[in-house]
Amino acid sequence: MTTIAVRTDPIRRIGLTVLIIMGVTALAVLMRGFGGGADYRTPAWAIQLHLATVIPALPLGAWLLWRAPKGDTAHRVGGRVWALLMIVTAIDSFWIRTITGGIGPIHLFSVLTLVQLPRAIWFAKSSQIDRHRKTMRGVFFGLIAAGIFAMAPGRTLWALLFG
Ligand code: HEM
Repeated sequence: MTTIAVRTDPIRRIGLTVLIIMGVTALAVLMRGFGGGADYRTPAWAIQLHLATVIPALPLGAWLLWRAPKGDTAHRVGGRVWALLMIVTAIDSFWIRTITGGIGPIHLFSVLTLVQLPRAIWFAKSSQIDRHRKTMRGVFFGLIAAGIFAMAPGRTLWALLFG
């Protein structure tokens, strides 16, 4: 019987990571060129939609990562909903340009999310459960980090909560 080995040697993984980082950086630089310019105003719906997706994504993501068992119907249905919430969060963020007035460094998070989510789903579908878990964990901690960063002084949530 022929078996197909999934290559995970460190050199290949480092190479792939470097390629992804270069691709994401190139994309960010390109998108900066398309950025709305000085007269761009972030539409309110973009921030409302962003908050409407990240707020349920926080408890749902934690529940999916830490509850047992994994792989049952609840995990698969909840996982699909969570992936959808994260994809909407990431895509919608390109309409939010409050920090630099254009596409800025935090949008790298969004690109990374859009790269990592399909990879994580593919890992689950191809039974690479360890890689699926690690990648999803990474996306989830990205969500937490973005959430903490969103409350930094000067940002919209800071002004809303403490301003
Ligand atoms: C709990 C999680 C999150 C919260 C509470 C949150 C909140 C917010 C809020 C309120 C804004 C409006 C702009 C501002 O504050 O200046 C914003 C902007 C943004 N968020 Fe999030 N967010 C979260 C997660 C994420 C995630 C997971 C991503 C990426 C996948 C993301 C990407 C962005 C980007 C790119 C912007 C635009 C930044 C800019 O103006 O340059 N956020 N976020």
